[in-house]
Amino acid sequence: MKITTYIFACIASLSFNSCTSEKTIDTSVYMDINRPVEERVEALLKQMTLTEKIGQMDMVSEWDKDAIIKNGYYDFGAWIAGMEPEETNKIQALSEKTRLKIPYLIGMDAAHGYGTLSGRTIFPTSISMAATFNRNLVKKAAKTAAGEIRSAGTHWTFAPCVDIVYDARWGRTGETYGEDPYLSSELVKQAIRGLQENADPQKRVAASMKHLAAGGASVGGVNHASADISERSLRSYILPPFKAGIEAGCMTIMPGHNDIGGIPAHASKWLLTDIVKNEFGFKGFYVSDMMDMDNLKTLHFTAENQKDALRQSVNAGMDMHMYSPDTTQFIVPLTQLVQEGIVPIKRIDDAVRRILKIKFELGLFENRYIDPDKDIYATAENRSLSLEAARECIVLLKNENNLLPIDVQKYKRILVTGPNADNQSILGDWSFFQPDSNVTTVLKGIREVAPGIEVVYSNSGRIKAKISKEKTNTTDPALQKQLLTEGGGISDYSISDAVTKAKSCDLVVVVIGGYGIRSDWGLRTYGESADRPSIDFYGRQVELVQALQKTGKPVVAVIVNGKPLNNEWISQNIPSIIDIWEPGMYGGKALAEILFGQVNPSGKLPITIPKNVGQIPMYYYQSSSRYWTGYGLGSSRSDDQPAYCFGHGLSYTTFEYSDLKLDTVFSLKEDIQLSFKVKNTGNRTGKETPLLFVHDCVSSVVTPVALLKEFTKVELEAGEEKTVHFTVPSSNLGLWNTEMKYTVEPGKFIFKIGRSFNDIRLEQDIFIQ
Ligand code: BGC
Repeated sequence: MKITTYIFACIASLSFNSCTSEKTIDTSVYMDINRPVEERVEALLKQMTLTEKIGQMDMVSEWDKDAIIKNGYYDFGAWIAGMEPEETNKIQALSEKTRLKIPYLIGMDAAHGYGTLSGRTIFPTSISMAATFNRNLVKKAAKTAAGEIRSAGTHWTFAPCVDIVYDARWGRTGETYGEDPYLSSELVKQAIRGLQENADPQKRVAASMKHLAAGGASVGGVNHASADISERSLRSYILPPFKAGIEAGCMTIMPGHNDIGGIPAHASKWLLTDIVKNEFGFKGFYVSDMMDMDNLKTLHFTAENQKDALRQSVNAGMDMHMYSPDTTQFIVPLTQLVQEGIVPIKRIDDAVRRILKIKFELGLFENRYIDPDKDIYATAENRSLSLEAARECIVLLKNENNLLPIDVQKYKRILVTGPNADNQSILGDWSFFQPDSNVTTVLKGIREVAPGIEVVYSNSGRIKAKISKEKTNTTDPALQKQLLTEGGGISDYSISDAVTKAKSCDLVVVVIGGYGIRSDWGLRTYGESADRPSIDFYGRQVELVQALQKTGKPVVAVIVNGKPLNNEWISQNIPSIIDIWEPGMYGGKALAEILFGQVNPSGKLPITIPKNVGQIPMYYYQSSSRYWTGYGLGSSRSDDQPAYCFGHGLSYTTFEYSDLKLDTVFSLKEDIQLSFKVKNTGNRTGKETPLLFVHDCVSSVVTPVALLKEFTKVELEAGEEKTVHFTVPSSNLGLWNTEMKYTVEPGKFIFKIGRSFNDIRLEQDIFIQ
């Protein structure tokens, strides 16, 4: 007998020996929809064998489907599977072959629409949604995505990612809401509500906040690497979005790949149980990140073997294992650990209760299948929401002499070029290729929107060549030309073609950046496991832009990317620069509308863009000591300025701030209320996002130079003025003191209101006593 078959036989006998026969299963309580979930959970739990319980804690994957069916053992809790409804139903049917017929939870990463399936609505990614600074839009997009996820038969998405990013080298920056704890907290709440809140349980999608914690502060910006971060920083900046998400009812959390101060997140009882479950009151369950319980043995080397890795992680508080190819990986060793008294049965019961609770809350016991005819997606309404979000996430970084919007009377023939001009990079990470008809690339968008001008295109080749370096390096122009259609990189040929065409045009739009499409794994320049030791543009992109600028034609640089990129030559020499992030399926259309002035840009940076890699970490809320000293010979603080600061984002109109009304003395328990006026002083409608930063002047521990405490987004017609009201509870001005207790210290605080961290328009001191 093969060893795996033997193990399956043992497991099967273990299950059936220790339980009662099928006839004695009492479904009267746990299948009664009118009973409270807790009662249903208990009624089911008490009928489960140890192996069935441990099975609920394990996930299997669609990649092992055939082997699982061959083995005939189906008592697992969940599947990682991104499939069309018919296939999902087939997987789900396997749950009915088990004794208790507990439905499977089916989960997949659908971070901004169900991008790993074909034809769904693809929204801007999280970093892009963060650039909208628009809470409602985040919630609406999440709710719409949830409709498409659930109607495909998937119940659970491994999103939102709420890592706070300190290091722009980290490839996964685009999956997050950026660097700011308050912005991230506000947006994660909306994303969770959008996914989970629905009166009909059959329409809810369980969210999974990730990655707990500090992956965005890992050494060198390397995914999986250690985060050596203090408890104070963790509590002050990294954990608040998780706490906010828990308060919004987040059903599951995924810990990070990394260790914190030497303790892998998946084995940190302090983090998983003491802080998040006990202190924050997290009632959902933890799902491991991909093989990260196992990684205690294979990556972190804190466990000698698989059994010990499971002991550490389950005892630390982990509830579900992602994922097992068969029962030997998790079910067998964990069963032994319980039988040996090393993992307490109480811990197992706690994990299973948490998992079952979510299955009941999602209505899976009532209906585990999905009607493929009801799998409705990419409706006109859903698509238009994606376009609306794309319009708001685009950030105008620079616009010398108001080159934008493009004056079509003056610039009648436009060259569109650059490696991201006509590809699906706009869809961003966690998206596979989509049907061309569902994607408006930049070139397509410009052609659709440009009013009566001539659009010329030059194919620049890919950011990273698909074909071998030797072949790409050919000096034969004919071969270089041919290679472009086969996936070649930027070449001498493509540069000279772009330059020749630019000379015959009035203006150039060059689309550069990064490439993050999931299904093109090896060709990505950012994304998961695509970290780079640089924030400069990959490959020959700068050379291409320089050659175009030399033609003397005005150049507009458009950046498509999921993380900060900067090249100082480009920032200094190119008159107009637009960061469109990863704007989703209609990114090209939204950009074109902005280029030609049909839409006024309103996105702002949710993350600082450093000038160069050496400045990292460069998030805005540095300590005063870094802020006032900075790099530089002769200590010039200007040498430590970023290329573009947090909150930066230009508009085609101008805004004036005035009339700050704010009392000066507040008690420790009071809400601080303030108001001010914002006026659109230009000649076109625009949306503005006023930001309120607060600086604590003297504190018992070092506090940052400022922290965002409130923001809103207002639309103003030309000449219109609105009064903005903010309320900041005094309790939000606290710090983690020397005893590691959260406390608000009386004293002076400076309230600063403005367009960005470096563009403060109103300022006033207040005193807390
Ligand atoms: C990633 C997670 C993701 C999981 C499942 C891992 O490699 O780190 O963010 O949810 O895979 O796809």
